[in-house]
Amino acid sequence: MHPTVSFATLLVALILFPSLSPAKLEPRGTAIRVPLKRGWPVTRSSGSADNLTPGLVNGRCLRAHLQRTANKYSSTFAAYQSNTGSPHPLAPPSAPLQENGDIWIGTISVGTPPQDFTVVFDTGSSDLLLPSVTCDSSCDGHSRYDPSQSSTSASLNKTFSLSYGGGSTAAGELYSDDVLIGGYEAINQTLGAATTYSAGFQAPTFGADGLLGLGFPQISVYGQPPVFQTLISDNAVSESLFGVAFELMVGAADTGMYNQSSMVFVSVSLQAYWQIPMDGLTRPGLNNSGEVVIANKTSYAQAIIDTGTTLIITSDANAQKYYADVPGAEVVPSLGSGVWSVPCDSIASILPTLSFGGHAFPVSTSTFNLGKVSDNSTNCITGLAGGGSDYWVIGDVFLQNVYTVFDIGNSRVGFAELA
Ligand SMILES: *[C@@H]1O[C@H](CO)[C@@H](O)[C@H](O)[C@H]1NC(C)=O
Ligand SMILES: *[C@@H]1O[C@H](CO)[C@@H](O)[C@H](O)[C@H]1NC(C)=O
Ligand SMILES: *[C@@H]1O[C@H](CO)[C@@H](O)[C@H](O)[C@H]1NC(C)=O
Ligand SMILES: *[C@@H]1O[C@H](CO)[C@@H](O)[C@H](O)[C@H]1NC(C)=O
Ligand SMILES: *[C@@H]1O[C@H](CO)[C@@H](O)[C@H](O)[C@H]1NC(C)=O
Ligand SMILES: *[C@@H]1O[C@H](CO)[C@@H](O)[C@H](O)[C@H]1NC(C)=O
Repeated sequence: MHPTVSFATLLVALILFPSLSPAKLEPRGTAIRVPLKRGWPVTRSSGSADNLTPGLVNGRCLRAHLQRTANKYSSTFAAYQSNTGSPHPLAPPSAPLQENGDIWIGTISVGTPPQDFTVVFDTGSSDLLLPSVTCDSSCDGHSRYDPSQSSTSASLNKTFSLSYGGGSTAAGELYSDDVLIGGYEAINQTLGAATTYSAGFQAPTFGADGLLGLGFPQISVYGQPPVFQTLISDNAVSESLFGVAFELMVGAADTGMYNQSSMVFVSVSLQAYWQIPMDGLTRPGLNNSGEVVIANKTSYAQAIIDTGTTLIITSDANAQKYYADVPGAEVVPSLGSGVWSVPCDSIASILPTLSFGGHAFPVSTSTFNLGKVSDNSTNCITGLAGGGSDYWVIGDVFLQNVYTVFDIGNSRVGFAELA
């Protein structure tokens, strides 16, 4: 492990505007930083951002991510249908290949007295999942929630089961308890205490104890309000939004983190995921040929902004188009059918630029290069993968390059250049 940015302690910004009701928690305008540990399925050598000696991709970790997210999308699509009565317009006939990184990991406290857990803050799902004290050995290595040790815990007398590929599941019992996140308390929050964890959640490939979903209620597999909706209905916040960059703050926007005049907002297309239209995704042409356009405004590309995913994921056809003319580009079947590699020294010349709300945001070499395929390979894994569907899942490979605001109250996503 090197002290590079990929292993630095990063923070997610959660900016909540307290309500006009008596502030029972934190005084209005007080910023609270919640430290986050950041994981990444690659080991890297040091180097400057755009002249990085690539490290080695962590194949085992990446494969586990691929499995876990395939299942996240299939179970949240199913939840949407069961919660709203209609299929999600982006839902494929069968589960797409997806990929999931344990990127934004922070600590929450649950119950009275507080029990602490690390969770992945995941904008691509909407439920709170923790290992239960009664979990079998599949939860080994994780902290476990013990409702009997919490005076505010109540059983909802209901079981849950989250499907995760290969027939494995995370299943258990639903409870309500008080959840402390960044200085705000969600009273009687529904949480799932898992008595069994599927392979994708097991230590050490899953770097947190559980998952805290930051999506909309429509994709709650429990059919229950997610943590932020609880904060809103508790009047802990009247208007809420949270921002993701290098730190977590509650109660104020850290305007020092981003270039304010570059901030653009895009309305959420459908409240379920943080789904917005993407104006374009392009990369430079090789040999000074014109830029390669993979997605544009007319194609009305839909993008799901997902902090729980590492890569940028799209259809095989789009990925094929992206890499088609790059000499030496090839898929890496051992990591999943959609994963691509290119010669490490060509990465800097094929970096994607994503446009939202009329503003173009480039992706840096250091975030697009996931590391060498193997010790002796001269190819590196790239941050844009196929294996998905026509819509785009926009993960950390992009989100590390911008300041992202998830504005629940106005149902929109904001992006700004980092300061
Ligand atoms: C769950 O069951 C217990 C014991 O039967 C009961 O006391 C409690 O009220 C039930 N809780 C809910 C939410 O139904
Ligand atoms: C939370 O649930 C408990 C019962 O478990 C109830 O007594 C209490 O009033 C609830 N609090 C809120 C704020 O809903
Ligand atoms: C901030 O963003 C605006 C709009 O994109 C741009 O014109 C300006 O140069 C940026 N300022 C800095 C300091 O990068
Ligand atoms: C760019 O030039 C190289 C070497 O001359 C050639 O092999 C390659 O096919 C060219 N690529 C494109 C897209 O024109
Ligand atoms: C935009 O995308 C559509 C649909 O994919 C495509 O037909 C069209 O040629 C693209 N336009 C440009 C300017 O690339
Ligand atoms: C890399 O090459 C060295 C020397 O040729 C060899 O000993 C080693 O087994 C190779 N490693 C892999 C992973 O292929």
